[in-house]
This record gives sequence, C-alpha cells and structure tokens, in this order.
Amino acid sequence: MCGIIGYAGETSAVPILLDGLEALEYRGYDSAGVAVVSPDGKLQFSKSKGRLKVLREHLANQEPLVGNIGIGHTRWATHGEPNDVNSHPHIGNKNKIAVVHNGIIENYMEIRAYLEKKGVEFVSETDTEVIAQLIEYYYFKDYDLLGSVYKTLHRLRGAYAIGVLCADYPGRMIAARKDAPLLIGYGDKCNFIASDVTALLKHTRTVSYMNDDEVAVITPYKITFFDGDRGVIEKEKTEVEWDVSSAEKGGYAHFMLKEIMEQPEAVRKTISPRIKDNRIFFEELAGKEELLKGINKIYMIACGSAYHVGMVGKYIIEKLARIPVEAALASEFRYASPLVDEHTLIIVISQSGETLDSMAALREAKRLGARVLSIVNVIGSSIARESDEVIYTMAGPEIAVATTKAYNTQLIILTMFGYYLADLIGAVSKEEYDEFLSELGKLPEQMQKLLDSADVCQQAASKYFNRNSVFFIGRNLDYALCLEGSLKLKEISYIHSESYAAGELKHGTISLIEPGTLVVAMTTYAPLLEKTVSNIVEVQSRGAEVISVVSESDKDKMNTSYENTFVVPDSHPFLKPNLSVIPLQLFAYYVALNRGCDIDKPRNLAKSVTVE
Ligand code: G6P
Repeated sequence: MCGIIGYAGETSAVPILLDGLEALEYRGYDSAGVAVVSPDGKLQFSKSKGRLKVLREHLANQEPLVGNIGIGHTRWATHGEPNDVNSHPHIGNKNKIAVVHNGIIENYMEIRAYLEKKGVEFVSETDTEVIAQLIEYYYFKDYDLLGSVYKTLHRLRGAYAIGVLCADYPGRMIAARKDAPLLIGYGDKCNFIASDVTALLKHTRTVSYMNDDEVAVITPYKITFFDGDRGVIEKEKTEVEWDVSSAEKGGYAHFMLKEIMEQPEAVRKTISPRIKDNRIFFEELAGKEELLKGINKIYMIACGSAYHVGMVGKYIIEKLARIPVEAALASEFRYASPLVDEHTLIIVISQSGETLDSMAALREAKRLGARVLSIVNVIGSSIARESDEVIYTMAGPEIAVATTKAYNTQLIILTMFGYYLADLIGAVSKEEYDEFLSELGKLPEQMQKLLDSADVCQQAASKYFNRNSVFFIGRNLDYALCLEGSLKLKEISYIHSESYAAGELKHGTISLIEPGTLVVAMTTYAPLLEKTVSNIVEVQSRGAEVISVVSESDKDKMNTSYENTFVVPDSHPFLKPNLSVIPLQLFAYYVALNRGCDIDKPRNLAKSVTVE
C-alpha cells in the first residue's frame, strides 16, 4: 500500500524514480510524485492525481527537475482524497524538507495542532504532511538533520516507512521504518530505498531489509544504519533471486494473464525442493518434529485470497490429521480473544509478507504463546522475519493485484503440509500417502492442460460478461473454491457476486435467483457431487443459467450444456482445488476484459495492504 522509491547516485534521479514507480504502481495508483535536490541545494518536486502516466506528462511539460538524488511515491489514499495537493512527496513550509511515506500516523491531528500553534501552515489533508513539517521545524532549531528525523520519529504513533530529503544535503537521503516495509538496495556508485524489491531489479539484487525503528543515511557511496537510539549498526546483505524478466509482462496483455499462465511452473518449483526419497520433506521444519507432534489446534490466519487458501487447508488438514483447524480473518482474529496456547500452531498465509492485519495477528498469537509458521512468497518480508518458521512459496514476483499464482502455490504448500503432519503423527496410511504423491507429480502437467483449453472460459465470458449478479455455489472444498472464484470475479470485473455453500442457498439466498441469474456451480468434490447437482436443478427451475466446473470422469453427470461446463482433469481430491481454481481465474479475467476493466489495477484496491 503506497510505493516508495529513492535514489542517490551520479546520474539524473527522475528517470530512475519513474522507472521504479512503474514497478511499484500496483501498491497504490491514485496519485504519484517525485522530489529531487539539485547539486546546488534546490528542492524541486512534481506530483499529480491519477496514474503514473499523468505525472510523466506533467514532468514532460515543466522545467526538468535537476538532481542526482530523489524520492518518489505512488499513493493509495487514506487521509484526504486523491488530488495533487494530497499526493506525496510532502514538503515543509520553508521548502527545505521533502518526505514520502507509507503507513498511517495515528496522532497526526495532535502534531498538526502543535505545529499550527507554532505558525506552521498546512496545505494538505494528509497525515504524512506532519512528518515533513515536524522534521523541518526541528531542523531549523539546530540544523542537525538526522537528529530532527529522530526527534520526529519519537513523536509519531502509527506505522511508517519514510524517505526524507533535505535541500541542504544534495547527496544524502534518510530512510526509516516501523511496521511498514522498506529495503535498501546497493548499486554501483548509487544506492536505493524501496518498498519492494521489484522496483530495484533493473539496478541491483543486493539488498538489506530494514527492521522496525531502524534509520539509514544513504549517499551514492555509503549507507550507514542506526538503531532506534542512534547507535550505528551493521546490516546483513541479501541476494535476491528474482530476475528482471519475472517482473515484466513478457508479451502478455496483463500481468494477471501472465501469472495465471505461470502457475504450472510456480507450482512445480514449489513442490520439487520438498520431495526427497519419495517423501514430503520440509527442510524449514527439520528438528521441529517433536514440537509439531505436540500440536492440538491449528489456526490459519490471513486476509483476502490467502484466507480462502486457509479455508481449503482447514478442510484438508482436519480430514487428514484429525486436528481441529480454524481459518480466521487476520483482522478479526486479533480482537476476538482467540483460544491460543503453546500447543496451538498458527499458520499465517501471505503473498507479500507485509499485510498489516496479518502481521498484527501474528504478533498477538506470539504474545499468547503460540508458535507461528508462515507461508510467504516474498523472501525477507516482515511476516517471514517475525515467524518462528517460514515456508516460502516459489511463485516469483506477483504484480497483478488479483492473486493467482501465489494462491495456487500457497494451496499446494498447505496440502503437502497436511500430509507431512499426518504422516508425522501416524494419521495417514502408506497407501494413501503414496497415492497422493503419485498424483502430486502429475499436477503441473494437468494444470498446463487446463490452461491450454482456456478458450472454453473465454467463450463463456463473452456470453455472460454483462450480467449484474453472479452466484458461486459448492460444498466442502468446492465451497472454499467458490469464495475465491467469487472474489476474483468481483474484484476485477466489478460485477456483484456471492459465494454460497450450496446447501445453504435454500435458507434465504435462493430468493435472489431469478430468470437470467448466472450461477457458477462447483462440483469437483466427488463425495457431494449429487447433492450439488440437486442444488443446480433447484436454481435452474427458478430460471438461473448455470456454468458448472466438474471433473473429467463426472462430466456426463452434469445437466449443463457443453459450452457451460468447465472440465478439470481427474486428480486426487485434495489436489482438485489447484486445478479447479484455474477456470475460475480465467473466467474472471475474460469477463473483466470484455467489460474493459483495468484488470491489473482494479479500482480502490492495492496489492500490498499495509494499513489496518
Ligand atoms: C490484498 C490483495 C489480495 C490479497 C490480500 C492479502 O487485499 O488485493 O489479493 O489476497 O491483500 O495479501 P497477502 O499479501 O497477505 O497475501
């Protein structure tokens, strides 16, 4: 949520900042801005409401911003509507200090009132402006820039990742973080700050992740890190494995389509390091076997699609390991007085590893004495670093706001973990375990087969893209899939959609079914297929049009036409979700495409949500 980039080097900063913002735009895209300091100490900035291309146009039509040091920002508005003035960077009254910020300052009203009494004039409605004004206010007292930043940070309550420029220091930038992601990139005669590593891949893959309360002073040639008390500290450098091409569209019209198509490879990469001698093996959990055997309850904690993964995981792990599993929304878990102790395993699921609600729930669980295992895609992210154990999905960078390949890799990790745990506690027979493994090996190929027949979903989308309301129904694992299918459709196409446990429909919602309503029925969970077919008949009798998602061997049992039937390959029941989500993703994608929606950047959303 909000993207930050900063550059200190020997060449013009603006093109590098704009390039970085392009890669960060998925974090927020209602406005954007840059600020630079010229070698002779002139602070210049440009910012504008709208997408990055509007800022580019502004910059092309004004005096060039001169300077080899600068900060940039792409915004997802919290305080104050998206407009030019509320865009970042925010600038102090005396044009000395510029700040970009990601996060929320909770006590900004109090600081604003304090500064207003001192004669500072505020121009925006944002919480961020207080940071710029307060640093500048302190700076004019003793001209100690780093000291002014520290004094300001000590007064802030809330979450922040900030980049700070001062007109008096044309070769220096300051960065700080608390509860919002920020990393430092090491280049050749240049250095960077960024919210996310994808913004830096063109320049460097050597980074250091900042921790809470740390501050960094960045020049083109040197980076000095400080702890919360201004003591100098050493930071570890990490080499990032992702390459530039993995964060580019590579000929696809949208990142979402590219990422849907990348799923077989992402799943293959996620599975293969975890199979050794025909056993599921998590190197990350080596030595923790006894702890895992002592678990008597599991909570899956996550937000959005990752929560839907948790719902699938609940069905699978409860069935396999016979341990109670609850899937909880992170934003609810934290305030629900959860029953958690040292025998509870908390599994936090997060693509970005930065979602603030998930992070806060993780901390609450730890405070209550639970052990935290996280399933995360971004290496070195905050959730990964604060967990006791981390299993990384190998999805590679995911750029489209609507998740696809990360969802699928999270699913496969949870299912494999279910077998691993069940095997550890002796809850699964050898035959069942071996059968699962043999089906697991076929999964990437089966996914590819499904993707190769994307045209069925495309044609159905052309037929139904103008509906106002779509229902997704299914039972058991299929119900968990409905949650995701419905979310995918509504978040990118803006069609109202509901997901319902098929058996629950008759308890109220069926009154919304009328001639022409589209119902997507998931029927891949074989034990309950006939029951769901009865529910399909019920909605058809009330005039609904039905698309069904069904396994190859059951396709003749369906009462939907060929063009309204999405067939998924036969597979192990617990691997079906990895397959049956694919037609749902494709359908949502093509519906949104037909409606002319901005697929990779749906309105009001952001990929990485770092506010509560
Ligand atoms: C946002 C995204 C969703 C994602 C959710 C959780 O809302 O738009 O696609 O599922 O955050 O994100 P995480 O990074 O924690 O998986």
